[in-house]
Amino acid sequence: MWRFIIDSDPGNGFPGSDVDDALAIAIALLVPEVDLRGVTIVAGNVELPEALSAALTLMEVAGRRDVPVCAGAERPLVADPRPIRVAMNARRQDAARLWATVPLPCLQPPRDPRRAARFLVESIMEAPGEITLIAIGPLTNVATALLLEPQLAQAVREIIWMGGALRCPGNVTPVAEFNAFYDPEAAYIVFHSGAPLTLVPLDVTTRTCLTLSEIAQIRAIGTPITTYLAMITEPWVRYVMERRGLPGCWLHDPLAVCVALDPTIARREPWHVTIELTGQQSRGQTIGWDGKFPYLFPGGQPNVQVCVDLDTRRFMALLLTALGA
Ligand code: RIB
Ligand code: CA
Repeated sequence: MWRFIIDSDPGNGFPGSDVDDALAIAIALLVPEVDLRGVTIVAGNVELPEALSAALTLMEVAGRRDVPVCAGAERPLVADPRPIRVAMNARRQDAARLWATVPLPCLQPPRDPRRAARFLVESIMEAPGEITLIAIGPLTNVATALLLEPQLAQAVREIIWMGGALRCPGNVTPVAEFNAFYDPEAAYIVFHSGAPLTLVPLDVTTRTCLTLSEIAQIRAIGTPITTYLAMITEPWVRYVMERRGLPGCWLHDPLAVCVALDPTIARREPWHVTIELTGQQSRGQTIGWDGKFPYLFPGGQPNVQVCVDLDTRRFMALLLTALGA
């Protein structure tokens, strides 16, 4: 039995927003051996109230209102989110035509009054060594929880984070990946907390692809949640096909959950990784030393396990099987 908490910035149903968080949460909901202890929400793909409503909508469709959904950080620890929000809103306008038939999640208050960081601390500290925290958004909630209770770094079984770009370009700036760029100070705190941290960076997530034909397979499963996932995923795939010339969308966040379910689908290496905080153009860049010549470890020793290689075929089989295909 796996015990997961997922920290997420879901944007399902909102035009122009990535849908990978919803797919990731759905996998955790559908795998019988997973005890999903809760989902904590952070601003990222969309603003906090929208992300909360997207998550609550997903739980309702899945018939899983029993899973706690706790609201967290509305903004990064230090960074000013306004520039990236302006860019995301422009993308929303550009994409709206493709979401014309997708209902917007109705904004609703949290059903669970607990704040995300407090929920993370209480849940992990009461079950030391048992809970895997899968972080698939900016690390604001996770960093806040570590600041609240530094012992969380020793109590958590593992933190698996979809974030960073090490030997590949970024997806928000030429060098920075979105989750890292959105809250680099939070990422710095987590990288240097001593917690057992596994990175699932763009280096491996951009080797995945969900196409329209796989969406048809998901739709054919015919359950309420897979019908919903197909509905919200198709416009996103069509948007990235049109705007990025890709054959389908990347599956960043589902890969993080699948790495938790079957660590053998990705090869990991011990790296020393930190994040740039002050560079004019490089802020949010994750910088990694793999300990091989010439990148010998700097002052610091390895602090993270980095997924450097992926068996894409096994990953896709795991994902589709988990959804019921
Ligand atoms: O860079 C990809 C990450 O940013 C994914 O987690 C996606 O959902 C967005 O949060
Ligand atoms: Ca995400």
